[in-house]
Amino acid sequence: MTKCIGILTSGGDCAGLNATIRAVALRAHHGYGWKTVGISHGTHGLLHRPVAAEPLDPARLDAVLARQGGTFLGTTNRGNPFAFPMADGSKKDRSAEMVEGLRELHLDGLIGVGGDGSLEILRRLLSGTALPFIGIPKTIDNDVFNTERAIGYSTAVAIATEALDRLQPTGASHDRVMVLEVMGRDAGHIAIAAGIAGGADIVLIVVAEAAGDSHQGERRGDASIGEWLAHRLTDMTGAEARATVLGHVQRGAQPTAEDRLLAAAFGVKAVDLLAAGKADRMVGWWNRTVIDVPLEKVVGRSRTVDPQGALTRTARALGICLGDDA
Ligand code: F6P
Repeated sequence: MTKCIGILTSGGDCAGLNATIRAVALRAHHGYGWKTVGISHGTHGLLHRPVAAEPLDPARLDAVLARQGGTFLGTTNRGNPFAFPMADGSKKDRSAEMVEGLRELHLDGLIGVGGDGSLEILRRLLSGTALPFIGIPKTIDNDVFNTERAIGYSTAVAIATEALDRLQPTGASHDRVMVLEVMGRDAGHIAIAAGIAGGADIVLIVVAEAAGDSHQGERRGDASIGEWLAHRLTDMTGAEARATVLGHVQRGAQPTAEDRLLAAAFGVKAVDLLAAGKADRMVGWWNRTVIDVPLEKVVGRSRTVDPQGALTRTARALGICLGDDA
C-alpha cells in the first residue's frame, strides 16, 4: 500500500532546508514508492482548514531547489502550540487543533526539520498521537545535542568567514579595530569557527551575539553587543573601532556543498528510519557518518563550544584571545 509522509520546517530558516525537503521526497518516492506532503509554515499550517499543505511532486524537485536558500514550505519560530501567541497578546494552547490538522492529512509518518526548541515542541505535540515522528537537526547555531553538525551551520560559517576576509583589509588600512557580531546565540560555534578561518586577531574580533549579555545594563540604548563592544574598546584604548552586525545575512544564502551533503544524508536516513518502523528519533552526524538517536537524548539540552575542545585549543594556539584568562 502506498504510504504518505509529511514534512515541515520549523524555527528560524537556514541554508540547506530546500535540499533537505527534496532529499526526503526523492527518497520516499524512489526508495519506497511513497508520497510526501509538505506542510506550510511549520506547525502554523496545521491550524488552517483545510490544512495548508501540498503534495510534493518529485518531478518538480530538481537540483535547482537544492541550491536555493530559505525553505519553500515556509517556517516559523513564533508559535509554540502549547502557548500560541494570540492577536490580543494572550497565549493559548492550540496543540489539539494542530493534532487534528495532522489527522486530516492521513499521514503514516512525519519528519520535522528544526533546531532543539522545535524538535522538543514537535516531539511533545506528537507524543499523544500514534504518528511516527523523526527529527532532522538544522540550525546555524549548531547547538543541537548529539550531532556534530546541524544543517545550515556550514553556510553560516562560510558567510561569517567571508565577512572577516572583507573587514580585515579595511580595518588594517585605517588602523581600526573591526568588531564582527555573528549569530549563534550563546553557543559560540559560528564565532569560533569563523574566527579561526577568518584570521581574527588584534584588529579583528569575532563576537557571538549573546556574548557579554551580563553587561546588558551597560549597553547604550538598543546597541547590539557588537556595537557596545566597539564603543567600549574605543573608550578603553582610544582606538577607532567599527562594528558590523552580520545578522540574517548568515541564514539566507545558497547552501555550501557541505550543507547540501548533510541535507541529502539526513533526508535519506530520516525516510529510511520511518520505513524501518522507527519513531521518536533524530538523525545526526557523528564520527564521519549518519546516525540516529532517541529524541529524548536530544531535547532539553544544547551543545555549546567546548572550552577544552579542539577548536578552542587551536584558537589559543594561534594567539587568538578568547576573552578569558586561560
Ligand atoms: O537560532 C537561529 C538564529 O538565527 C539565532 O542565531 C538568532 O539569535 C536567532 O535565530 C534570530 O532569530 P530571528 O530570526 O527571530 O531574529
